[in-house]
Amino acid sequence: MLFAAKFAEKSGEGKMQILMEQNTNQQQYIKQLRLWNDKYAAETGARRRAFVLTFGCQQNEADSEKLKGTALAMGYELTEQPAQADLIVVNTCAIREHAELKALSIIGQYKHIKQKHPDLVIAVCGCMPAQESRKNELKNKYPYVDLVFGTTSAHRFPELLHEKLERGKRLFCPEATEGIVVEGIPVKRESSYRAWVSVMYGCNNFCSYCIVPYVRGRERSRRAEDVIAEVRELVESGYRDITLLGQNVNSYGKDLGNGYDFADLLRDVSTIEGDYLLHFMSSHPKDATEKLIDVMATCPHIAPHFHLPMQSGSDRVLKAMNRRYDTEKYYSIVEYMRSKIPGIAITSDIIVGFPGETEEDFEGTLEMLRRVRFDMLYSFIFSPRKGTPADTMPDPVPDAVKSERFSRLLALQNEISLEKNLPLEGKTLRVLCDGVSKTNAELCQGRTDQGKIVFFPCDPARMGDYVCVHIDRADSYALYGTIAEA
Ligand code: 5AD
Ligand code: SF4
Repeated sequence: MLFAAKFAEKSGEGKMQILMEQNTNQQQYIKQLRLWNDKYAAETGARRRAFVLTFGCQQNEADSEKLKGTALAMGYELTEQPAQADLIVVNTCAIREHAELKALSIIGQYKHIKQKHPDLVIAVCGCMPAQESRKNELKNKYPYVDLVFGTTSAHRFPELLHEKLERGKRLFCPEATEGIVVEGIPVKRESSYRAWVSVMYGCNNFCSYCIVPYVRGRERSRRAEDVIAEVRELVESGYRDITLLGQNVNSYGKDLGNGYDFADLLRDVSTIEGDYLLHFMSSHPKDATEKLIDVMATCPHIAPHFHLPMQSGSDRVLKAMNRRYDTEKYYSIVEYMRSKIPGIAITSDIIVGFPGETEEDFEGTLEMLRRVRFDMLYSFIFSPRKGTPADTMPDPVPDAVKSERFSRLLALQNEISLEKNLPLEGKTLRVLCDGVSKTNAELCQGRTDQGKIVFFPCDPARMGDYVCVHIDRADSYALYGTIAEA
């Protein structure tokens, strides 16, 4: 069933095989489960239902679209109500402790559903159970959880569910040791105009605070032709906004060993004709090459937006984080981007309170915010992750100091975001109409090509359309306007 090449991986950790596989060996399980569910539907007049709950990043959102697509292929109907489900799948995140505790608390609530409905199958997957300690915790403290598998076994979902149902026993799948890229898994996309396309999986960077390399394995890239075919199909079926995803998206291709890199992929994908915009995330500064920025500057289908996590503005902290760049290198990338793509939006991730962060280190971060002037920041307080080097680093900084620094960071960024947004008042911008405002049902919300959030009165029937919006007002968080076209 393996049909393609095995690639040698240069991770510096010894060679690992990366297997490119089609989803064919899961088809038999999908078929058998489909028959089982069809029989139930014929006998009872109702379909078994599956509920998929997602925590975490866009990669997890994309993985959940595959879990949902697979559930549908197996003959389940999707529900938004866990209490009505016959199969609950919780796709978890492990990036910070808060995400894990939230997932565990919700899984705890499913105990009552299981008591009322003993045939319910509860599966927990994603990054959290890819850690042995969490897998054991689920085994010992959550006896009503039936099936547990991590990210490296997610493609085996039908087989694992089949085995669980057939044998009746709880099943805890060990993590796969080989890297694998599986094509052809069914997908149920949440939107008909905005789509995620994973181009690579895993991470080799081992930033000292980060759990991702331990729970998602080594970097492995999809074949360019598979990515291009998927994006072409999406554009042909009307998708307008396509985000190429990878934990470390701009190191795409390194494992393929043929010199083809992320800039090449982006250039080739953007030759697809149609009315669409490409985004990508997340990038590492060490792989943010001039070649990549040159491609962005010349291809009109690539959004003028670069999400480039900086993490800290202190060279000492960046070194302790194992980030492999310093603030000057980071700033030189920003300057090159702005020289080639005037008006480009630059957004970033910052961690406050890395172990041993001094006031001077933190001032360095504030200084970089003033120099770079990011359009938007995603900021986080450091969360120790078991098994990562930063977990055991001495951390004398009290939590109260971290919280206070976090507030100062937000306050400065709010000022900068406002200063960056105010000049947009009076301008007319293209906006992809994306949803209804959560706080005011009269307003639609959308995003500009630069990724800025815009609220405006609009007929929800225009969801998924590009509209021109005159910006009447701006604050640090969003833009507010009115449709400027007939
Ligand atoms: N604590 C806090 N933030 C973290 N991130 C990754 N690991 C941690 C951690 N242990 C942040 C980084 C990364 C983003 C996705 O999450 O800023 O870029
Ligand atoms: Fe984590 Fe660093 Fe990899 Fe990003 S690049 S996923 S922060 S280890």
